Amino acid sequence: MARWFNVAGPCRSALHYMLPATERLPDVMRLIQQQNYFVLHAPRQSGKTTAMLSLAQTLTASGQYAAALLSVEVGAPFSDDPERAELAILDSWRGASSWQLPTVLQPPPWPVAETGNRLGAALRAWAMASPQPLVLFLDEIDALQNHLLLSVLRQLRDGYPGRPHAFPASLALIGLRDVRDYQVASGGSERLTTASPFNIKVESLTLRNFRAEEVAALYAQHTADTGQQFTPAALTRAFTLTQGQPWLVNALARQAVEVIAPDPTQPIDVAVIDAARDRLIQRQDTHLDSLAERLREPRVRAVIEPLLAGLVPAELPADDLQFVQDLGLVRMDPQAGLVIANPIYAAVIPRMLTATTRAFLPMITPIWRTPEGRLDPARLLEAFLAFWRRHGQPLLGTTAYHEIAPHLVLLAFLDRVANGGGRVERESAVGRGRLDLRLEYGELVLPMEVKVWRDGEGDPKGEGLAQLERYLQGVGVTTGWLLIFDQRRGDTPIAERTRAEVATTPGGYQVTLIRA
Ligand SMILES: Nc1ncnc2c1ncn2[C@@H]1O[C@H](COP(=O)(O)OP(=O)(O)OP(=O)(O)O)[C@@H](O)[C@H]1O
Ligand SMILES: [Mg+2]
Repeated sequence: MARWFNVAGPCRSALHYMLPATERLPDVMRLIQQQNYFVLHAPRQSGKTTAMLSLAQTLTASGQYAAALLSVEVGAPFSDDPERAELAILDSWRGASSWQLPTVLQPPPWPVAETGNRLGAALRAWAMASPQPLVLFLDEIDALQNHLLLSVLRQLRDGYPGRPHAFPASLALIGLRDVRDYQVASGGSERLTTASPFNIKVESLTLRNFRAEEVAALYAQHTADTGQQFTPAALTRAFTLTQGQPWLVNALARQAVEVIAPDPTQPIDVAVIDAARDRLIQRQDTHLDSLAERLREPRVRAVIEPLLAGLVPAELPADDLQFVQDLGLVRMDPQAGLVIANPIYAAVIPRMLTATTRAFLPMITPIWRTPEGRLDPARLLEAFLAFWRRHGQPLLGTTAYHEIAPHLVLLAFLDRVANGGGRVERESAVGRGRLDLRLEYGELVLPMEVKVWRDGEGDPKGEGLAQLERYLQGVGVTTGWLLIFDQRRGDTPIAERTRAEVATTPGGYQVTLIRA
């Protein structure tokens, strides 16, 4: 039977197409051989568990180590009850070792120990009983918080000098963040100090995303199993859209080969990949959903909000920026600066932020659709102005991202428009002070430049026209919209100030200027 693209949990080579799991961890063998304690941190769904489980199995199979991947996640609900947390964790460790290790390498019965020392005592007893040096990887370490996390780290540090005979010879903590960054008090800003209870770690490793050639190699496994081809352009497209994010790489291919083009004689081309992307964005699968959860956190919002509006963030703590990068939501691009991590997240994030707005969006008659199913820009303008005058004000209150509320309401509106056969592409980068949007509908491409006029600033019209002109030239069309949302504190209600006029860019393009 052919294998498949895995989108649910760690990969298994017998079932799933997969890349060699530890290739992205070139230094890890040296760290283990030298009996080190280290940290592996990488964003969600990047392959941490897959890699470390496979590494543990390789180490054990070599006959030189007793190696297992254990998790501390089950302790998380008992942050305030260390005894129950420790017992739950020990129970899950026994379960995990029972299927990962042969009988001779199983842990002995856990010794009796005081709360606050149960894990340390168990590790000591296990290492002493083990015929081979014990190597353990503790997954989901950042599921633990506060005193419980500190207690676990202290127990590790306490036992560390006893390795390799009386404590695990090598040990890794696996999570989203580097240990020094763990928040001790949930929601607070207190961090572990430099005298960290895990200052015994020698190194922090991270997992990079897949490279373009790795994505091609993964997809080639499907071609080998089923005969279904990917065109070179489709491979390039898949990499551009996912930037090699491991789960996205799999999820995109899965939609393509199982849903969009289930017939293996049909090659996967760019159109299939694009259709797969659209489905993925619509579906908001679990991984994408868990990102949405994060968007509610204030320090995430502090980064994402200006990013979406193309603004320079006001005084961003470096730490918050690092946090949002560690989550995998944004990345530093050598050319563009800080950007949303990949085009799929970039499409999903505004959709998630506009979920409420879209839910409250009234019925809008699609007067912009011609009888032939094309889009009439003049009628679209009419519909937008009427929509904004009537519903703009209340809808602005439907998002927690106040700074970019007009953008989000506009996106929700355009989403509705695109629903009938078009799509909305958006581009923004920090510091450009604007949002570029492009409505594509059949043959029609309608670029839009969105600016916000804030208190104490001048009219952004001149700047906006020049920016729109450059955008038009980039896209290769001759007209578009400049939307200026007036966010100054004033008395004129939206219904009265919303209007449109024709304006001319410095280079002579006739465009539509909308003030709202
Ligand atoms: N070696 C690999 N080859 C191909 N795809 C992989 C590989 N490793 C991971 N993936 C993809 O990434 C997904 C997540 O893998 P895994 O559960 O190992 O990641 P994780 O970083 O532990 O995630 P989480 O942070 O949620 O625990 C898999 O479902 C699969 O789509
Ligand atoms: Mg995992």
